Amino acid sequence: MRIEERKILDALPKLEVKLQRSVSLARLTSLGIGGSTDLLRIHRHESIPELLDLLDRQGIAHKFLGGGSNLLVIDGELPFVVLQLAQPDPDVVIEGNIATVDAAADLGRTVTLCAKNNLGGLEGLIGVPGTVGGALRMNAGAYGTQIGSYVRDVKLYRAADRKIEMLRGEQISFEYRHTSFAADDMMLAVKLELPSKPYQEILQGIRICNEKRRASQPLGQKSAGCIFKNPPGASAGRMIDELGLKGLSVGDARVSDRHANFFVNAGEASAADMLALIADVRERVQKVYGVSLENEVVVWNA
Ligand code: EPU
Repeated sequence: MRIEERKILDALPKLEVKLQRSVSLARLTSLGIGGSTDLLRIHRHESIPELLDLLDRQGIAHKFLGGGSNLLVIDGELPFVVLQLAQPDPDVVIEGNIATVDAAADLGRTVTLCAKNNLGGLEGLIGVPGTVGGALRMNAGAYGTQIGSYVRDVKLYRAADRKIEMLRGEQISFEYRHTSFAADDMMLAVKLELPSKPYQEILQGIRICNEKRRASQPLGQKSAGCIFKNPPGASAGRMIDELGLKGLSVGDARVSDRHANFFVNAGEASAADMLALIADVRERVQKVYGVSLENEVVVWNA
């Protein structure tokens, strides 16, 4: 989608929003899949309500992009524009046990920076790609850690109220790969309250998690992490593996040989290939196990 409306184009400099024309989402997502659209990079949180008012008044659909690491975007000219927060400098500020982190901050860098300041708790999240905003929205987790456990408060754009608000941790429900944020809320910043731990001890935890991940996940390949959520009490990866589906492909979309819940783009996979592979695997699992796997990956298809 191309923004042509003068009212919007003229307002962008004042709002500190930078327009990039016809950006390929394949370049902005870890799967390397997705069509093109205009990208609006936001350099000031406080501009968001006015920017969204402008877009809504001109009937321009939009979506918020975080780090693009858990996302499958359809092919071709996209019927929406994409908004993304620009990374401020600094993006992480540490005072005592509190780390104030911009949503655009890289999650891995945040874990490491906190560690260097003797703040632990986040070790399990090392190696989870993406931004802190994306991790918050999904309540990212790994190796027994989930980010929601450490949230003291969140600054967000609340779509329902059309304004920027602060929520305390207790006002938000963080469940397995699910939060009480609305789909069109936009994460802006978070205060994490973290336990004090000596750096060397945190580093040891980080090393263990890195090793486990390297041993079981296809890290060098283009993927969106796990495609399906684990159903209660079971592992989607194990079920897909048990059905002998590693290596199953549609075009260049392929079930990883290393971890069956990772679907990789082994070359020039299209969104259509990946969606067909997801549907095929879901159907096979449903047939044998009677379980309907729910997507973990977020799909932008309209
Ligand atoms: N397994 C297989 N074959 C496979 C994959 C897994 O038999 O191809 C077995 C493993 O041997 C293990 C069990 O299934 O006994 C669970 O596997 P794993 O420890 O890899 O964990 P997972 O449940 O598949 C979850 C998260 C990952 C996270 C890891 C580590 C989900 C959907 N996945 O995977 O998160 O990194 O635990 O904590 O919750 C993600 O969210 O994108 C993601 C990758």
